[in-house]
Formats: sequence, C-alpha cells, structure tokens
Amino acid sequence: MYILGLNIGHDATASLLKDGRVVSAIAEERVSRVKFHFGFPYKAIRECIRVANVDGKDISKVVLSFENDLKRSPFHYTDLIVKRSGTIDPSNEIDNRKKFDTAKEIIYRKMIGEKRYWEKASNYAKTQITEALKKCGLEHFSLETAEHHLCHAASCYYEGGKNKVLIVTMDGAGDGLSATVSIGEDGKIKRIVEVEDIYSVGRFYSAITKFLGFKRNRHEGKITGLAAYGDPDKLYNLFRKMIDITDDGKSFYSPLAGDLKGDRLRLKQLKDFMKGKYYGHNYTNLYLDFLKKNCSKETKEDIAAAAQKLTEDLVVKFIQPHVKRTGIKDIVLAGGLFSNVKVNQRVLEIDGVESVFIHPNMGDGGTSTGACYVKWAEEVEKRGERFLPFTIDNVYYGPEYSDEEILKVLKDFLDKIEFRKSGNIVEETAQMIKDKIVVGWFQGRMEYGPRALGNRSILFDPTDRKINDWLNKRLKRTEFMPFAPSCLYEDATLVFENFEKGSYPSYFMTITFNVKEEWRERIGAVNHVDNTARPQTVKEEQNPLYYKLLKRYKELTGLPLFVNTSFNMHEEPILCSPLDAVRSLLNNCVDVLVIGNFIVKQKKQ
Ligand SMILES: [Fe+2]
Repeated sequence: MYILGLNIGHDATASLLKDGRVVSAIAEERVSRVKFHFGFPYKAIRECIRVANVDGKDISKVVLSFENDLKRSPFHYTDLIVKRSGTIDPSNEIDNRKKFDTAKEIIYRKMIGEKRYWEKASNYAKTQITEALKKCGLEHFSLETAEHHLCHAASCYYEGGKNKVLIVTMDGAGDGLSATVSIGEDGKIKRIVEVEDIYSVGRFYSAITKFLGFKRNRHEGKITGLAAYGDPDKLYNLFRKMIDITDDGKSFYSPLAGDLKGDRLRLKQLKDFMKGKYYGHNYTNLYLDFLKKNCSKETKEDIAAAAQKLTEDLVVKFIQPHVKRTGIKDIVLAGGLFSNVKVNQRVLEIDGVESVFIHPNMGDGGTSTGACYVKWAEEVEKRGERFLPFTIDNVYYGPEYSDEEILKVLKDFLDKIEFRKSGNIVEETAQMIKDKIVVGWFQGRMEYGPRALGNRSILFDPTDRKINDWLNKRLKRTEFMPFAPSCLYEDATLVFENFEKGSYPSYFMTITFNVKEEWRERIGAVNHVDNTARPQTVKEEQNPLYYKLLKRYKELTGLPLFVNTSFNMHEEPILCSPLDAVRSLLNNCVDVLVIGNFIVKQKKQ
C-alpha cells in the first residue's frame, strides 16, 4: 500500500511510503530551487512518484501533516499555498497583499458569520488540494489529515528503533501547540503533556534570530554558532522575562506578556499588523519590542549566547522530570527546535539518559514522513497487528542520475568545462582532498532533510582552521559554526567524547560532541571555539562509496575524517541535479566536481 505524506506551507515536502517504509522523500525546494519553498510540493510529488517508479494511480491515501490548521485556514492562505506556491518568502517581512486579503476576509467573515465562514474555508482548502493532487497524476485517493505534533512524534518514534521511549516534540507552532511529551510503547504513542503555542521556545529563538538581523525560520543555526563567542550569563535573567518554565515544569510562560492572550492578544496582533509591524505570531512582536528597548547596545554574541543557554536550560528542565518520573532512559526528538545541535547534546547529557535519537528531517519537512507513519500504524492496527519502531541506515530518498544522464548535461557546457571519466574516483578524490583541493562530490541518491550526508557534499581537508573564513567567503555564507566533518564510524570514539550514547543520531549529523583534547588542534577546521563538533559518522553499509573514500583518505593522511559541508551556492537549496552541480562549478563554489565517474573542471580562460 502506498501512502503519500505532504507538508504544505513552509518547507513543503512529499514522502512516499510503501508498506511502512519510505521509498522516496523530497523537499520541494530541491526541485523548485526556491529555498524553504513555501507552498504546495507539486514538483516533489511528481519526483517522488518518478523516483519510486510508481504510478500515481496506485496511491490510495494522501495525508497532510496538520489538522486544525486546515480547518482554520482562511481562503487567502489556501490560495497562497496552492495557487501562489513558491512566490513568497514568509521568513521575515509582511506581504502587502496579505494585509489587504486579511482585511477583506475579516469583513466577509462578519457578513456570513464565523461558523459558516470556517466551514466554507475548510471545504475550499480541501477542493484546492484535491485539484492540485490530480495535477500531479493522482486519481482516486482519500485525503486525510494527521495532527501536526503527532506527525513530528511519529517521525522520530518509528525510526528511533526502540520499543519504549520518551518522545519530545518542540517547534515554533503547529496545530495550536508548540511542544508535547509522549510515551511511545508497542507501536502506540500516548501523549502526556502538551504546551499551547503562545508559549513557544521555538518562536522565542526565532525572534532572537530576527532581532540579530537574520531570517526567522531559516537562519537559526547561525545563532547557535554565534553563541559560543558570547557571555551567556550577562542577559540570561533578562531573557527569562520573555519566556520561562512554569513551576510544575509542564509548560512555559511569558512574564513579559502576563495574561495577554485570547481576544486581547488577537486585537493587539491585528493592530500591529495593520501598522505594518506584525509578522510572526503570538508574542513575536512583544519580544522584538522588548529586545529593541533593552538590548540595542548589547553585542550580537552576548545576545546569542544568552538565548542559546536559556533555550538549552528550558528544554532540559522540560524533559528531565519525565525521565525521572517514568524511568524511561531513551529519548526521541523531532520538531524544528531540535535542529539545534547543541540543545540535542544537552538532552543527551541529562542525568539518566542513555540514548537520544533526532529525526534526520526534524523540522516541518519531516512531518510528511511522520504523517505517513501515523496512517500506516492505523492500517496495521486494523489488521490486529502493531507497527513497531525500526532503525534506518540512511536518508538517501531523492533522485539519482546515471553516467549517461550526467554526460548529456556535461556535453551542453563543452565551451566552459573540461571533463574526463575516471577509472578510480575514490583514489583520485582522496588525493585531491589531501592536496587541499575543494571538491564538489555528487553521487547516488539525494539526501532528505537539511544536511548533506555525502551524496551532495563539498569535501575538504580538516586541518586548516582558517577554512572557516576563506571557504565561507567563497561560498558567500555567514556562518559562525565551523564546518562539520564526515568521520569513519569505527574511529569516532577516538575523536569524540561520550560518542556511544549519540552514535545513532550521528549518522545524520544532528548532534554535537565534545572533541577529545588530543584532536582539537589536529582537526582545527571542524573544532568549534567551545571544542565541540557535529560529525556525520559513516558505516560501510550506509554508503559504501563514501565509506571507501573516507577509508582511503585515512590511509593517505592518518585522519579518519574530512570536512563535509552542503553542496550549494549562497542561500540556494542543496543541489539536486547534474545541472545544479555544473552551475555551482561555474560559480566557482568548488575547484573540481566529481560527479558519477566524471572529474570536471572549469576551462581555463
Ligand atoms: Fe512543526
């Protein structure tokens, strides 16, 4: 049975499940080339179907990764997703048309009454989405929904590999919630805590991101990197006025907002919005005003450091009591907040915790997979059985290209590039990395999720501490976190402290570890100022070719790791096709492109 899961809206993604396992999963941004594509995953759906070699007519169930938001979505929001897919960047700014549409809808709502309005809006959304799916080749299917945080929870529970775990989800907001705690056992997810979305640690972190001049929902990782350079204590208590944890540890609250909620909050939001001030949600504007008033003279580093420390502490305080009370020592995590690799390390370090797993696509992109699991678990249960957790080796769920297909693209650029077929790309590439050549490595199926994991990666020597300046400049990136390494799995315990507990998430580069003292100088390019690194560890069965490359590099240099950073140009999504790869080479991202069995360079002018 095929189930198609969709995350529509921010970070639109499609996942195709066959009998409980992902056969293809692709983010729309990779195919549309619009970063974090906001809209409907038209191209990703078609690509998922093509890659899995399935007929669209065979997909009998489609599931959306939110439930209440669909019922609440006004007409213009549906139009924005389905009809204007990919045309706006909702990260920071106010869309003027949205302002006009909102005003228009308020009047319409008043005219026909609330209940009737939402009924109509919900039916409109369903019709539009059904039409869009038909355009993608689907014919007869049931269109269903699954609650947003349940989708996050299912994504990390079923792929976490352990029968009984504590499941924690935290994000900006989804279906009215910002965080949940559940117990996963025997294939069932039982929620024990939920936090309403006005109290959102994710939104607090995003407000900090915006205040520091970056884009919300996009550049949060920069704040995590920047934090290591600042003093976390200076603004810590001030920031607790924006968000803190309640005495019983089951929710968060905002001392600054007091009891501003419900209609009063909505009225304030509307006023702010009409003044051109409002984007974001709930307390974002309050936070921004507060930061402007109190932190205008503070350094970016100190602001980031306090925000990061407070976020880590709140997450730990939120999870710790449940570990104690339930005695469950294995934790699985999903939701955009857990893209914060340092937070994940802190969770792993909680007293009594034995393992942590983070879904490889922890943000909303991963809910398309979670939604499929929710529905598959229901199907299995109908047969009187249980869908039980399993482990995955990799997330290479995207398209791949044969040498013939690659050659066809290369031949179109004969005036600008020179290339040859290599008899041994592993040997040649290992030598190039050793010789400090910036290699663009394009092989096999594209990764799913935010990290490049050795199929669409830029590779480089790990010893050069200065790389973070010059390579970032060359790639036009502002990053404060150093590059991450890919490391032979069997050698990771030599380099990183406390590795065993976090070995599974390290397949997917979702957690930091402290670097052992004797390695810090030797691998300067990947060691952060706080002596942490976020490695991807590689076993032979996960990616035989990439493993071979790491192994050969170690034979040549004695180092079990090299730099692996995502293969993309400034603010573009990670590349997907051979054409994207050639464009990157021509844009000077890399010195050499190793694509399939071809070694490609720019022609000397
Ligand atoms: Fe979410």
